Amino acid sequence: MRAYFKLIFIVIPVCIFTIPLINLVQPREHLSVETSAGKDFVYISNMLQEKCSDCHTPHKKTLPFYFSLPIAREIISRDIADAQNTFTISEEQLTGKQAMEPAQIAEIEAELQANTMPPLRYKAMHWKSFITNEDQQKVRDWANQHKESFQLKPIPLKNPFEPDPKKASLGNRLFNDKQLSADNTIACATCHQLDKGGTDQMVTAIGIHKQRGPINSPTVYNAAFNFRQFWDGRAANLEEQVSGPVNNPIEMGSNWNEVIAKLQKDPLYVAQFKEIYPNGINSQNIIEAIASFEQTLLTPNSRFDHFLEGDKNALSADEQKGYELFQNYNCASCHAGVNLGGLSFEKMGVKKDYFAMRGHLTKADNGRYNVTKLPSDLHKFKVPTLRNIELTAPYFHDGYTNDLSKAVHIMAEYQTGHVISSKESQLIAAFLRTLTGEYNGKPLRAGI
Ligand code: HEC
Ligand code: HEC
Ligand code: HEC
Repeated sequence: MRAYFKLIFIVIPVCIFTIPLINLVQPREHLSVETSAGKDFVYISNMLQEKCSDCHTPHKKTLPFYFSLPIAREIISRDIADAQNTFTISEEQLTGKQAMEPAQIAEIEAELQANTMPPLRYKAMHWKSFITNEDQQKVRDWANQHKESFQLKPIPLKNPFEPDPKKASLGNRLFNDKQLSADNTIACATCHQLDKGGTDQMVTAIGIHKQRGPINSPTVYNAAFNFRQFWDGRAANLEEQVSGPVNNPIEMGSNWNEVIAKLQKDPLYVAQFKEIYPNGINSQNIIEAIASFEQTLLTPNSRFDHFLEGDKNALSADEQKGYELFQNYNCASCHAGVNLGGLSFEKMGVKKDYFAMRGHLTKADNGRYNVTKLPSDLHKFKVPTLRNIELTAPYFHDGYTNDLSKAVHIMAEYQTGHVISSKESQLIAAFLRTLTGEYNGKPLRAGI
């Protein structure tokens, strides 16, 4: 018996010091961060992985070694369950593949500034998890940047992407060229008509041989502001997006070799490419030129932009009421930033099951899930921009409705949990119509 007691006096202190010591020296594998997520995010992600994700990241693969010990495992599992019931950060977000929600960023900032996380019992075991001044500063800067990007802002008059004019002009020609399709019948501009708000105004797109696609064509205007491209975000940027439609059998049904062979027969293209690119016509240069053109498709000078800049008469009294409702119903928590959207993936049907109402589920309805296969991504879509919305009907990824007030009514009910009156939907729709801007100095109107 005495020997047993003695043993406890040895075992406990040994545990108290060895577990933290092993944790201190044992290197833990971190997920690497995509470069597109930005330099500053690398620090944030490593900090979160080191100090937070043992408890807050579901299905984490690299847990501390003592997680395999019987009693420890039980205690820790309860902690993790409690932690994840209140707050989660997915692996996709840690790698930067998926953006953090603004609310998550605000919560992380709050916990770090108050120094309430990680819990003391965890810090006692993980000496590396104490929050440093540098952590607090970096998280504050990161949160401030994001607050900035989520504020509603006018489109700047000076193009922030600074596209090369020669590349953009070549891209303009390519964007309108039907030779990019297998049977020379379809150009990018067929489905993204610049005089129809950058869309085809059809429920879902129609490609070569009159084949109907599975999903509604989003606008190309202001797409350069989107954090990723496509409804499900499968392309990281405009360049990655271009090959999609060219190779898609029901859109343009072609491939780069075929397209390059056709363009090479055109002396004007050969000369135009040579002037900009020493290596002439190739897929990379075609892609860059088209993306440069798309970077010029910005629509500043909407009435709402003038309002944001301080011209209070730019909106009528009703439109201002609509804007107030838009803010009060928190529409801008998702339709945020300069593009009133395009900054995050959000579930269609946060408060109520949209797909149960609509019926006839298709693969396209899976949304982001088709890319990640994560159950939590089912029915999530890149939030569409609301700029020029009066010209881009039908609305939603499935083209469910042509009526802007109805789209607003659905959003209020399914995304915010409010069944609003038709008067309120109309006021919000009136506000949304003030988001129509100008392209190349001319107002974007239907039929120009
Ligand atoms: C040992 C596990 C553990 C670690 C590590 C940990 N947390 Fe937590 N966290 C919890 C638990 C348990 C809760 C829920 C109960 C509570 O609020 O104390 C929680 C709650 C939270 C909440 C929600 C608070 C609220 O009131 O809704 C946030 C945000 C959070 N943690 C952020 C962090 C951040 C940021 C880190 C890293 C700097 C971190 N946590 C590290 C266990 C942990
Ligand atoms: C047959 C019609 C069609 C053609 C042709 C077409 N697109 Fe699209 N475009 C679509 C559809 C439909 C989507 C949405 C697909 C999805 O999200 O899965 C889309 C998405 C996009 C997006 C992403 C916008 C966003 O907000 O996510 C861009 C940018 C774009 N197309 C540019 C182009 C370019 C450049 C070309 C020519 C190389 C082109 N499109 C050809 C129908 C078309
Ligand atoms: C939780 C995030 C979220 C909130 C809150 C939200 N939306 Fe949306 N909104 C989305 C998503 C996601 C879509 C795309 C859904 C789809 O296509 O199935 C969308 C689509 C739309 C569209 C159609 C855009 C298009 O081009 O097809 C309109 C209009 C719209 N929202 C207006 C609003 C209004 C008005 C509010 C407030 C009453 C609101 N939204 C609140 C996420 C949100």
